[in-house]
Amino acid sequence: MEGIFGNHWLFAASVAELPEPGDYVTVDYGPHSLILVRDDNGGVNALHNVCRHRGARVLTEQSGTTGNLVCGYHSWTYAPDGTLIHAASAPGEKFDKDCFALKRAHSRVVAGLVFICLATEPPEDFDAIIPTIEPYLLPHELNKTKVAYQQDILEEGNWKLVMENNRECYHCDGHPELACSLFPTWGLSDGLIPPHLEEVWDRNQTAEQELQDRCDRYGLPYRVIEELNTRIAGFRISRESLDGHGESFSESGRRLSKKLLGDLPDFRLGRCSLHLQPNSWFHMLSDHVITFAAFPINERQTLVRTTWLVADDAVEGVDYDLDTLTHTWKQTNLQDANFVALCQKGASSPAYEQGPYMKSEYQVEMFIDWYRQRMQEHLA
Ligand code: FES
Ligand SMILES: [Fe+2]
Repeated sequence: MEGIFGNHWLFAASVAELPEPGDYVTVDYGPHSLILVRDDNGGVNALHNVCRHRGARVLTEQSGTTGNLVCGYHSWTYAPDGTLIHAASAPGEKFDKDCFALKRAHSRVVAGLVFICLATEPPEDFDAIIPTIEPYLLPHELNKTKVAYQQDILEEGNWKLVMENNRECYHCDGHPELACSLFPTWGLSDGLIPPHLEEVWDRNQTAEQELQDRCDRYGLPYRVIEELNTRIAGFRISRESLDGHGESFSESGRRLSKKLLGDLPDFRLGRCSLHLQPNSWFHMLSDHVITFAAFPINERQTLVRTTWLVADDAVEGVDYDLDTLTHTWKQTNLQDANFVALCQKGASSPAYEQGPYMKSEYQVEMFIDWYRQRMQEHLA
């Protein structure tokens, strides 16, 4: 928790989860609880959810709207920027309210994604990747989206197993719904295609070429940029094709919401996917966006929060059906949660010994390599 979650920029929420001034969400990373609250200027304050009197949690709901923040224990009252504005029966001039503001964490909004950093001095490397990733993300205009649905799964596994599971598709035979639209050849390349996936691979290659032609026409970036273990702000970003109609995560690959995001010119834009170390991944499609965040609870449990965003003017029941919109990834997440739990159980046995990574699991290896480097640095 100190070496990784205490030292890096962490994904917390998207701006759609706190659209108006006063809107807040609370997020926990292990023992840390943070309040993210939208201020009057549209910025997001990140405050430690720990009262400066005797330490009570200040906000206890996962989300809501608040004016001032009032601790439920002895009613110390804080402004949305954390300043202590009222403490009843305070001992006169000896008590300096300015010394008892809620502690702040660093926060940043990147293309509508809210990140926090618990370190005193956040790593500067995060700034360096923003100009690279923003051109991929900005066309989806997350500031003009709304939350269609949010799913929390308490996974029975260490957060590293959650991340490792996300970083490979070697297990994608276990995702029948997802495999309709997400090519299960993901992570493979020419010469590594097993016989049962050869036909899919050919289809994938054709779809990739078509997508790239379309992106060139619209001026959308698609090239894979992979720096998962070569920098502190490890990331991978790309725009990749989807199977079938190539529009969305449905059985046929057709759109799941009738409203295009932002000013996107076409539904057939595949998925713009971002993987970020240490705790998040994202799929941005023409019709919706899905954000994924892993919040460690303890060494054996992780909260995985999945949020579906649609255009803010999309109407449920008219432009999208909520069950259809969320079906593929709800099922996929449950399947993944099961894989993680199985792995946690098995890997906890004294008999466990690491097996080899397959070629298509190279991103798992990159995650482990990134983790090892960061921990060595931290311990040094
Ligand atoms: S602990 Fe918050 S007011 Fe006392
Ligand atoms: Fe999976």
